[in-house]
Amino acid sequence: MDTLLRYTHHLFFCTGNKCLGKGNEELKILAQTYVASQGLERDIMVTKSGCLDQCEYGPMVLVYPDGKWFSGMDEAGVRNLIDQIKDNRPLLPRHLHFQFDQKKG
Ligand code: FES
Repeated sequence: MDTLLRYTHHLFFCTGNKCLGKGNEELKILAQTYVASQGLERDIMVTKSGCLDQCEYGPMVLVYPDGKWFSGMDEAGVRNLIDQIKDNRPLLPRHLHFQFDQKKG
């Protein structure tokens, strides 16, 4: 568990059938490659998720701890997301699909 403490963000790439069909496996690989190229592999974890039940809006990507869900992701969107995290900027609303209200229980 200690290795998880080093991460500041976790990106989940949906690999349900619809998102896979829209290229989300390739976007996940792009994210992993871009994270490594920026020297962020100790800060940003990139993994798969199962279907997020938002299939018609995919490819879907979730970012935690922000609780933000992004839809219709593409290569530029993935790079922008990682750049925003790297630069400690707020995640811009481009592609923003949903955000959990963290004030709720
Ligand atoms: S396949 Fe991605 S939300 Fe269902």
